[in-house]
Amino acid sequence: MASKDKVLELLESNKQTYISGESIASSLGLSRNAIWKIINELRKSGYEIDAISNKGYKLKEGNDILSEAGIISYLNNDYQKRYRGANLIRIYDIANSTNRIAKELAIGGASHGTLVIANEQTEGRGRKDHSFYSPKGGLYLSIILRPEFLKTLKPDDITISTGTAVCDAIEALAGVRPTLKPINDLFIDDKKICGILTEAGTEFETGDIQWIVVGIGINFDSDITAFPEDIKNIATSIFSPNQATITRNQLAAEIIQRIVV
Ligand code: BTN
Repeated sequence: MASKDKVLELLESNKQTYISGESIASSLGLSRNAIWKIINELRKSGYEIDAISNKGYKLKEGNDILSEAGIISYLNNDYQKRYRGANLIRIYDIANSTNRIAKELAIGGASHGTLVIANEQTEGRGRKDHSFYSPKGGLYLSIILRPEFLKTLKPDDITISTGTAVCDAIEALAGVRPTLKPINDLFIDDKKICGILTEAGTEFETGDIQWIVVGIGINFDSDITAFPEDIKNIATSIFSPNQATITRNQLAAEIIQRIVV
């Protein structure tokens, strides 16, 4: 993990308190000057960081930038052990399709629990080869699952349990429970907030499933008024634009813990 990510993880894990440059420096084995430079790099990447002399640094409330460090900071201890330093999280600002990237990684041997996540998709895919409109304001994630870790390999059961896990995660963090309309859509007030696409690869000769990718597209704080005409009246978002009370990292972590067993 790069020093920048380590500093970010410390800041993300200590969001309530100031953490001194000296203690960051000593826990990472770096100089205070190096920490100061990294803080400035993080600010250039968009992080708002408070600095008070004699107290140190603190991430301001409301920073909502997807990052591996940010996601890991919201995982419980067991999952932190699994994900920290394991190279299981791939973050994209813009991806063509997180499912497509995850499938390529799965074919290449990526482990159970690998997560591909993006702020925006240019070629988001839905069921039955439909496209899935994926502008900024959403949260688009795909998780690689290996069959040996799953209780069932029935496609509908995997999609439904993924949908239930996403409903649970949204309810736990946002206080509103979406309705799962089998098998792959989540609704709030009868409008769609999330779609799920489950894909798998099999060995043709034996029919054995080798990998599964569950793709989840959520309207997080999307500007629904800017959606195309044919979907703007049937879609909604968990939060209005810039009104989210949680971060994308937090929701991603909550979803991982409920899906990656
Ligand atoms: C549907 O509503 O038909 C399913 C939509 C699934 C969209 C998600 S977004 C993340 C992942 N990447 C994709 O290209 N599709 C899924």
